[in-house]
Amino acid sequence: MSNRGNETVTEAQIAVHWQEEKYLYPSDEFVAQANMSDADIYERFGLDNFPDCFHEYADMLSWYKRWHTTLDTSDAPCWKWFVGGKINASYNCVDRHLEAYRNKAAIIYVPEPESESHEVVTYQELYVRVNEMALMLRDFAGLDTGDRVTIHMPMTPDLPVVMLACARLGVIHSVVFGGFSGKACGERIADSGSRVLITMDGYYRSGKMLDHKVKADEAVQIAADYGQHVDKVLVVRRYAGQYQSETPMIKGRDYFVDEQLAAFCGKRVDPVELPAEAPLFLMYTSGTTGRPKGCQHSIGGYLSYVTGTSKYIQDIHPEDVYWCMADIGWITGHSYIVYGPLALAATSVMYEGVPTFPDSGRPWRIAERLGVNIFHTAPTTVRMLRKSGPDEPKKYNFEFKHMTTVGEPIEPEVWRWYYDVIGKGTASIVDTWWQTETGGFLCSTMPALHPMKPGSAGPAVPGIHPTIFDEDGNTVEEGSGVAGNICIQNPWPGAFQTIWGDRDRYVQTYYAKYCRDSSSTNWQDWPYFPGDAATQAPDGYYRILGRVDDVINVAGHRLGTKELESACMTISELAEAAVVPVTDDLKGKVPDVYVSVRPESSPSKNLETAVTSAIETEIGKIARPKNVWIVPDMPKTRSGKIMRRVLASISNGSDVGDITTLANPEVVEHIRQMVQG
Ligand code: WT7
Repeated sequence: MSNRGNETVTEAQIAVHWQEEKYLYPSDEFVAQANMSDADIYERFGLDNFPDCFHEYADMLSWYKRWHTTLDTSDAPCWKWFVGGKINASYNCVDRHLEAYRNKAAIIYVPEPESESHEVVTYQELYVRVNEMALMLRDFAGLDTGDRVTIHMPMTPDLPVVMLACARLGVIHSVVFGGFSGKACGERIADSGSRVLITMDGYYRSGKMLDHKVKADEAVQIAADYGQHVDKVLVVRRYAGQYQSETPMIKGRDYFVDEQLAAFCGKRVDPVELPAEAPLFLMYTSGTTGRPKGCQHSIGGYLSYVTGTSKYIQDIHPEDVYWCMADIGWITGHSYIVYGPLALAATSVMYEGVPTFPDSGRPWRIAERLGVNIFHTAPTTVRMLRKSGPDEPKKYNFEFKHMTTVGEPIEPEVWRWYYDVIGKGTASIVDTWWQTETGGFLCSTMPALHPMKPGSAGPAVPGIHPTIFDEDGNTVEEGSGVAGNICIQNPWPGAFQTIWGDRDRYVQTYYAKYCRDSSSTNWQDWPYFPGDAATQAPDGYYRILGRVDDVINVAGHRLGTKELESACMTISELAEAAVVPVTDDLKGKVPDVYVSVRPESSPSKNLETAVTSAIETEIGKIARPKNVWIVPDMPKTRSGKIMRRVLASISNGSDVGDITTLANPEVVEHIRQMVQG
C-alpha cells in the first residue's frame, strides 16, 4: 500500500497502462494435427471436477500400481498427489518406449564446434546407457533410494542419462546449472546433503574449451566448510579417454565415469517401484534474499503434469523433432527437454553451446539440418538473435509448426519478430508463464484453441484456477485489467512439495500471505502465491508484469518495469531495455532506463530523448524516466537474464553485491562509471 496525502491507495486500485494487442490465429494445418483441439477440456478440468480431472494426465503414464487417493491434503500445504500409486520415471521415459520406438532418436545432441557431427541417442541406446549408469551409481558410488546426488554438468547427453539413472533407483538428483560457480555448487551440495558429486572435465562455450572440473574442487571444499563430506567425485569426460582439465584427479576421490562404466557394460537393473509422492529431484532457485531454496518435486505428480502439458501445450507427438534451447540445469530443461518430451517418446534436441556461435545463423542451421519443427526459447535469446542477425532466419529452410517463449514477459515488438521472422508467419506461439516451483506451465494459450495475443501469456492452462488479489487479500475484479498479485486457488500435480529441509520457509514464502486459516486442511484455504504481479484483460488473458519486487510504484501509480521496457522497444534502433526503480524524494520511486542499441545504430542525445517521448506516448508522463542510460551491454546472468538488481544498485548508488556469477561482470564497472561518474 502507498499513501497519497491522507488517502490510502491499494495496489489493486492502481492502474496499469499497457495497450491490448490484436489477436493472431493458429493456421488450419496446425489445428488439424494438434493433440488438443477440444474446447471441452476446460470443462473437464473445471473446479467441479477437481482433483480427479488430473487423472487425464496421470493416465498418460504407466503405473505399477494405481493410486487410491488423488489428492491428500492432510499435511496442508504440503500436497500429496496420487497417493498409493507406484511408478518409476525412468521406466516411463525409456523402457516403455522400446517396443514401438526402440530405434527412434530419443536425444539428438549437437556439439558447439560445427566440425563435430551431432550424436543420435536412440531409445535403445538410452536404455542401455541409463542401465549401465544406474548400476555404476548403485554398485560403485553406493547410492541408494532416497539419497541425494549433486550433478554439476553442462549440456552433454550424459546429463539426461545420469538423471534417468538416478530416477531408475529413486536417488534424488539435484542438478546445478553448469555455469554456476564452484561456490554456488558447494552450497547446494551442503544443503542437499550429497556425498557424491557428478561433474565434467570441460565443455565448449563460444569456441573455447572451459575447464569445468576446477569448480568441483572448490565445490567439495565449500561443502566441507559447511560440514558436508563428499566422498566421490565422478567426472564425465567430454571426449572419453582424453581429460580436458588442468586440475589433477584426487586419488581415492575422483573417478572417470567412462572408466568405471566399463565394469557394467551390457548389464541391466530393474527400475525401482517407487511411491508416487516420493521425491524425484531438487532444483535450487533464488529467493529475494538469503540462501537458495531446494524445490522438491515428486515423481508421480510432477511427471504426470509435465507429460500432460508437453502433450497439449507443447503439442509434442512422437514424430516431432522438438528443440528446447534452454539448459537442463534450469527447470525448463528438466520439464521440457528431459521428462515431458521423453515421457511422450519424442525426439528432443540438445545443444551444447552459445546460440550465436559462430554466428547468429547457428540455430537456423541446426533446425534446418535436423528438421526441427517445435522450437522453444526465452525472450532474452529472441532479443539477442534479433539484435545480431535480424534477417538471418530467412536464409535457411526450416519450418516450425509451434514455438514457445518462457521465462520473462516478452515485449510485443520482440514477439512480432519471433512470429514474423523465425515463425515465418505460420507457427503457433505459446507464451508460457510458470516457475521452478510450479514444475510446469500455469498460464498459456492452448495452441489450437486460442488466438495468440503478443505480450500476454494467455488464460490459465487446464486445471489451474488463478485469482488476482490486492495486498489485503481482496479479490481484484476478473477481467478488469487492474494489477495485483496473481495467485493459484488450487493445488496441481506439478507443484513442488516443499523446500528441502525448510518447510517453514516454504509455508512463509508461498502460502502465508493469503492463507485463510493456517490450521486448515482444506486446499481452498491455501492459495499459492508465486510472487508475480499480473492483470487480467476482459478476454481472460493474463499479462504477467514481473516479480512483485520489479514493480515500480511512481507516486501511487503502479508501473510494471516491463511496460516501460516494452515502450522503449518500440524504437527500432534499440536492442534491449531494462528499467529499474530509483528512489525519489517526491515520488517515492521513479524509473531509470537502461538501453542498448542495435549494431547498425549508434548512441546519441536524440535517442535518449526518443526513449523518454516513447514512454510518455505509450504510457504517460507519469512514467517519465529520471535518466536514460545508453549502455554497451546489459549485465546478465549466464542464462541470459538481465540483472536489473545490479542496475538498480548502480542507479541508487548502493553496493552492486556479488556479481561473480554474471556472464559479463566487466560491464558492471563500465556502467557504474557512466552513471556515478
Ligand atoms: C519467474 C520464474 C518458467 C521457467 C523459467 C523461469 C517469470 C516466467 C514468464 C512468462 C512473464 C515469466 C516470472 C516467474 N516468468 N515465465 N511467460 N511471462 N514472466 O523459471 O527462474 O523459476 O523464474 O520468471 O516472474 O515468477 P524461474
